[in-house]
Amino acid sequence: MAARSCLHLLIILAAGVLQAARAQPDSNGFISIDCGLSGTASYVDNATKLSYSPDAAFTDAGTNNNISVEYFSPANSRIFDNVRSFPSGAAPRSCYTLSSLVAGLKYLVRANFMYGNYDGLRRPPVFDLYAGVNFWRTVNITDAAASITAEAIIVVPEDSMQVCLLNTGAGTPFISGLDLRPLKNSLYPQANATQGLVMVDRVNYGPTDTFIRYPDDPRDRGWRPLIDTTRYVEVSTTKTVQNVAKDLFEVPSAVMQTAITPRNASDSIEVYWTADPSAASAGDPPPGYIAIMHFSELQLVQGNAVRAFNISLNDEWLDRMMPDYLYADADYNTVPFRGSNRYNLTFRATANSTMPPIINALEIFSVIPTTNVPTYAKDVSGITAIKKQYEVKQSWMGDPCVPKTLAWDWLTCSYAISSSPTITGVYENNPDLCIDDTCPSPNGKPKLAIYISVPIVAVTMILVLVLFCLLRRKTKGSANNIVNPHSEPTSHSHGSDSYGHGSIQLENRRFTYKDLQMITNNFEQVLGKGGFGYVYYGILEEGTQVAVKLRSQSSNQGVKEFLREAQILTRIHHKNLVSMIGYCKDGEYMALVYEYMSEGTLEEHIAGRDRNKRNLTWTERLRIALESAQGLEYLHKGCSPPLIHRDVKATNILLNMKLEAKIADFGLSKAFNHDSDTHVSTSILVGTPGYIDPEYVISKFFFIYYIQSLTTK
Ligand SMILES: *[C@@H]1O[C@H](CO)[C@@H](O)[C@H](O)[C@H]1NC(C)=O
Ligand SMILES: *[C@@H]1O[C@H](CO)[C@@H](O)[C@H](O)[C@H]1NC(C)=O
Ligand SMILES: *[C@@H]1O[C@H](CO)[C@@H](O)[C@H](O)[C@H]1NC(C)=O
Ligand SMILES: *[C@@H]1O[C@H](CO)[C@@H](O)[C@H](O)[C@H]1NC(C)=O
Ligand SMILES: *[C@@H]1O[C@H](CO)[C@@H](O)[C@H](O)[C@H]1NC(C)=O
Ligand SMILES: *[C@@H]1O[C@H](CO)[C@@H](O)[C@H](O)[C@H]1NC(C)=O
Ligand SMILES: *[C@@H]1O[C@H](CO)[C@@H](O)[C@H](O)[C@H]1NC(C)=O
Ligand SMILES: *[C@@H]1O[C@H](CO)[C@@H](O)[C@H](O)[C@H]1NC(C)=O
Repeated sequence: MAARSCLHLLIILAAGVLQAARAQPDSNGFISIDCGLSGTASYVDNATKLSYSPDAAFTDAGTNNNISVEYFSPANSRIFDNVRSFPSGAAPRSCYTLSSLVAGLKYLVRANFMYGNYDGLRRPPVFDLYAGVNFWRTVNITDAAASITAEAIIVVPEDSMQVCLLNTGAGTPFISGLDLRPLKNSLYPQANATQGLVMVDRVNYGPTDTFIRYPDDPRDRGWRPLIDTTRYVEVSTTKTVQNVAKDLFEVPSAVMQTAITPRNASDSIEVYWTADPSAASAGDPPPGYIAIMHFSELQLVQGNAVRAFNISLNDEWLDRMMPDYLYADADYNTVPFRGSNRYNLTFRATANSTMPPIINALEIFSVIPTTNVPTYAKDVSGITAIKKQYEVKQSWMGDPCVPKTLAWDWLTCSYAISSSPTITGVYENNPDLCIDDTCPSPNGKPKLAIYISVPIVAVTMILVLVLFCLLRRKTKGSANNIVNPHSEPTSHSHGSDSYGHGSIQLENRRFTYKDLQMITNNFEQVLGKGGFGYVYYGILEEGTQVAVKLRSQSSNQGVKEFLREAQILTRIHHKNLVSMIGYCKDGEYMALVYEYMSEGTLEEHIAGRDRNKRNLTWTERLRIALESAQGLEYLHKGCSPPLIHRDVKATNILLNMKLEAKIADFGLSKAFNHDSDTHVSTSILVGTPGYIDPEYVISKFFFIYYIQSLTTK
């Protein structure tokens, strides 16, 4: 039972990895989240008809809260009715993960906040917001009833991104809503891989009340209506305003159809914004700004009439504009404006213009560097699956390695100059692996606790699991688990096979030594070397690639093991155990012919010695661990009598072209008969220390052996 529940855990573990992409974007590629919404049901937003999901699938931190009734307003978007808050825990950073994105694509990401006294403290917080691993902006809430929108246009470096709230000690971070919208990469050329745009304002001049979003703007930008009717009048048209080919901003017609112009035709249009220190990370200089001004002529300009105007910033001339009729045009800077506390934009008619200036829409952004590179994505998804499975919620938040000051506990990260940081180690020193009397003595004797070199975290965790489960079983049935490594079982339930030299009966194809010479092109290519001799590459007549394990003649040892392996391999068939194609017993020569495992051993992949082998992703590592465990499970549970491999290690786990794992090398394996194997022997331990089957390790026999080895070494 214990082994079965272990297997269940392993399967859940793997399922966790494969399930990573459950919160999918909709058909537009939009992700729309109502943060803090209870339950699992999505709802359709009245204004946009977009479906908003609860946030539980996107974050594992924080708690749901409803705002105070006094701040509740049916006029507000429903996302503001509730918030998710992140009371201080072990981690200062709390994150949402948006997945199924396209790496290298430009996205608009938007976070909405309305405090609404959800915590009853009447103390609106100040906290920092991060787009992935890069500072986005400070969210300074001063009015409990005001909603704040943080929006950024960024190129997402990986296929997922995180939005993180950083507790800066000025109150509990919270969030009301989170939206992600894909943009074309040609849009907003000022946003690129190293620079993001943070929205300061986005204004639709002319109307007083129509807030434009999706579906009028297919990219779901929010356009705030604005007109100061004391100075300006609205100009509008019902005709469609078109975007020019290769338009860099694709402002929707609904926005461009309205504009403002001065009441007094000889006045200019004046617009200003002030530099916001909170738009820069604490200690950094104030940000630079990008202004994008959108113009279209909405009136037919006939005869000698001319509408032309100069655009200047803080009295410095920028450009001269003559908008086209019913075509959207834009004027913008590419080098950010810097160095001022206030920026005055002035639109003034030129001397020969007969008409006043006009402006249809305006966007102001500050620029943020997005030069922090997140941890290698495959490492992140693997470690995230582990985190999910082991519920390491409190301290593992955000990117595992970036920024360095917020790197996760227990992880070792490697920071390269020109590439993503990678996770090179987990759980250094395995502080919690030591169980009862298996603890190492403090004088540095080897640990019984299975210490596997750091990159194999998944394998470690699975072994811990298996050990844990088996230890629980030990108290129940240890007497039955005693293994005698010496005495061979003379018979077992299948009756017909025995392990004696000479009596071998194999069903598989039999090869002669000559055949082998031909298959391997006279033993041309060595694949590896084991205790019994070399393994060669071969190709059968019909083209099947094989590995030929030839028993070294110089070795007078190992005949028994060799035959044992052949014997076992004819009995067992499982997709995670290497399968035998045939054998050779030709006079002195003995060989086994296996299916060819083109990717070699697991060890070659994780030890990093062979530069030709690519690094395994964490998902692949977990799958390999699971598959290996399934192979073992078959040996232990599916075989009668059970087989104990006795030498499970990374060099005995082989990978095929599809990186599917198969356990190999059954030379030391042993049939295990519960009823007859009760004799305790302490004379030999077979297998590689540190890699022996957990069943075997936890048997009484092993403890005796182990304690002896400690005292005699
Ligand atoms: C918030 O209000 C909704 C509906 O009124 C309710 O179902 C939900 O349980 C409330 N959530 C919390 C955290 O109080
Ligand atoms: C949204 O639509 C529903 C159904 O039409 C209506 O009952 C509800 O009052 C609307 N809410 C808002 C905020 O307009
Ligand atoms: C938040 O805004 C208020 C009002 O503008 C200001 O007084 C306060 O210093 C700001 N706090 C931070 C941490 O920026
Ligand atoms: C992004 O734009 C900035 C400003 O124009 C420029 O300095 C930087 O080199 C660009 N980065 C990339 C990766 O193109
Ligand atoms: C329009 O502006 C000009 C210059 O600013 C001023 O001389 C004129 O009186 C204004 N006209 C009206 C009607 O306000
Ligand atoms: C911007 O305009 C205001 C009002 O006209 C003026 O007081 C201020 O000095 C101007 N700022 C700059 C930097 O030109
Ligand atoms: C507009 O700009 C041009 C070019 O700088 C300049 O010659 C002209 O005087 C400006 N006109 C006005 C009305 O400011
Ligand atoms: C208006 O004056 C500018 C020079 O200031 C000139 O380039 C432009 O052609 C003139 N436009 C018209 C319609 O005369």
